Amino acid sequence: MVRNMNEKLSNILEEAMSQINASDKLDRLNDIRVSFLGKKGELTSVLKSMKDVAPEDRPKVGQMVNEARKQIEEKLEEKKKVFEEKLLEEKIKTETIDVTLPGKKRMLGHRHPNTITLKEVEDIFIGMGYEVVEGPEVEYDYYNFEALNIPANHPAKDEQDTFYITKDILLRSQTSSVQVHEMEKGKLPIRMIAPGRVFRSDEVDATHSPTFHQIEGLVIDKNITFADLKGTLQEFAIRLFGEGTKVKFRPHHFQFTEPSAEMDVSCFKCGGKGCRFCKGSGWVEILGCGMVHPHVLEMSGIDPEEYTGFAFGVGLERIALFKYEIDDMRLLYENDTRFLKQF
Ligand code: DAH
Repeated sequence: MVRNMNEKLSNILEEAMSQINASDKLDRLNDIRVSFLGKKGELTSVLKSMKDVAPEDRPKVGQMVNEARKQIEEKLEEKKKVFEEKLLEEKIKTETIDVTLPGKKRMLGHRHPNTITLKEVEDIFIGMGYEVVEGPEVEYDYYNFEALNIPANHPAKDEQDTFYITKDILLRSQTSSVQVHEMEKGKLPIRMIAPGRVFRSDEVDATHSPTFHQIEGLVIDKNITFADLKGTLQEFAIRLFGEGTKVKFRPHHFQFTEPSAEMDVSCFKCGGKGCRFCKGSGWVEILGCGMVHPHVLEMSGIDPEEYTGFAFGVGLERIALFKYEIDDMRLLYENDTRFLKQF
């Protein structure tokens, strides 16, 4: 019986070995493993027939089966290694890297000229101790006009062709509305700038767009005078446009400031001599400003006898266009990468 088994096992072993030797790829090894060692495999069927073996012979036969299994497994493993090495070798041969090929460039985006300019303006004011705040783009008429001393039916309202949502709600036409929100908070003193998008029902052309950006400024404290306004805005102009920039204040009118002014800077293109850029005048208008009107302070709960302040509003696009010598505002919105990648 044992001899019988021995013979059977060596036949199986021999067959397995010759199949393994003849195998030509990795997948085939798996099939061989299943057909000999699997649940329905030949070696397993020998184990199943153990019940026919005399009990005293079973340990011996069991040992022989295990020995055969071990040999087949070792052989399979050995052959597998051969295949894997071969595969690796082929891979190395076919996947050579040509280090002289040009590299793949990863295109990195960068900041829009508006954003670059805004960051510069923010840095200047943060450096002077200002806080950067934001206000809503959809606004009540009260904040955009009324609380800024522009009552219903006032002709000053006509100058800003506003997008109305309802009679009382609109898209803000100026960031000056943020002044009111800040004052209403009741925390004094205030030193803030408020950059943001504003909306006006304007036709698109080289200098107009229905949406653009402004940067509002507001300072309120005890003993703030027009001298503080001038000194601050002069310093701002010099830091933004460079040493040697001159400023000039022209009297103007805004409803929410008294007195009011517009500030011009000496043309940084020609240094004030007059050129195409400044239309020969040597100056470019840059912002509106003034001392906060006592009535505006009062409406927001600040005592004008105790506190005074100044405010200003700058057009962001206007500055970006000057800084980068761009002559058409539409370029800033078209997102043409050939244009944008120059900055
Ligand atoms: N809000 C004004 C505008 O859009 C600009 C402006 C002028 C803002 C004078 C101010 C200011 O804060 O004091 O035309």
